Amino acid sequence: MAVLELTNISKHFGAIHAVSDVSFSLEPGEVVGLMGDNGAGKSTLVKMIAGNFRPSEGRISMDGKELVMHKPVDARHHGIEIVHQDLALCDNLTAAANVFLGRELRKGVWPFAILDYPAMYQRAGEIFRELKSETRPRDLVKQMSGGQRQAVAIGRTMLSQAKIVLMDEPTAAISVRQVAEVLNLIRHLRAQGIAVILISHRMPDVFDVADRVIVMRRGRKVADKQIGRSSPEEVTGLITGAIEQAA
Ligand SMILES: Nc1ncnc2c1ncn2[C@@H]1O[C@H](COP(=O)(O)OP(=O)(O)OP(=O)(O)O)[C@@H](O)[C@H]1O
Ligand SMILES: [Mg+2]
Repeated sequence: MAVLELTNISKHFGAIHAVSDVSFSLEPGEVVGLMGDNGAGKSTLVKMIAGNFRPSEGRISMDGKELVMHKPVDARHHGIEIVHQDLALCDNLTAAANVFLGRELRKGVWPFAILDYPAMYQRAGEIFRELKSETRPRDLVKQMSGGQRQAVAIGRTMLSQAKIVLMDEPTAAISVRQVAEVLNLIRHLRAQGIAVILISHRMPDVFDVADRVIVMRRGRKVADKQIGRSSPEEVTGLITGAIEQAA
């Protein structure tokens, strides 16, 4: 059964129709590349799945049950994690502190409970090893490369039993070697049965890692195809509008 299903989802900001009547479903362990030009509605769409925005119309359901989310923690409780376009990390904290931000481990009994840093360093270290990342738990995020920051942001999603991970442009601003690392992180999530929606402007990344590609143009879904049935040329045409709608 589909882990996630969107039915006729729309989002308006006043007169702006950011997302119009989009439907699709996502299977466990499926990686879907979500592509489209600037302003096509990609971030708005995944923010609705992550509980950041309420849809103006339509329904979102998970494992067959409708989800009504009022805030991002509601999505997280359902196993939906998002890595935002701007990563939203705290530069002055360590990698481990960022992984656990807002869900810190404590020891002792209230009101004497204290933050359990050794446990957090240990668990963060395990997560980075699991992700095959060289990121060290005690390193400060402000001293990290773009790829290491990605690993921290993705590490956050591994804390809970995520079923769906949404990634907004994870490879936009990083080096070639780090891109390979992030694509490996995505394969690793898939191998664990986690479904991934990968927003990207980078055609090679999507054709490398995705099972399926969805293209949006001006808020509408104009393609939803198995990657092997499409091509970079077709996707480019769909993004620009040279091709109206996928065959
Ligand atoms: N909070 C908001 N308030 C008003 N309008 C918004 C808001 N967020 C997005 N929009 C508008 O919705 C449309 C879709 O924006 P969105 O950020 O979803 O695009 P995108 O596909 O993610 O683009 P990019 O590739 O540049 O990140 C744009 O016209 C944008 O200006
Ligand atoms: Mg965006």
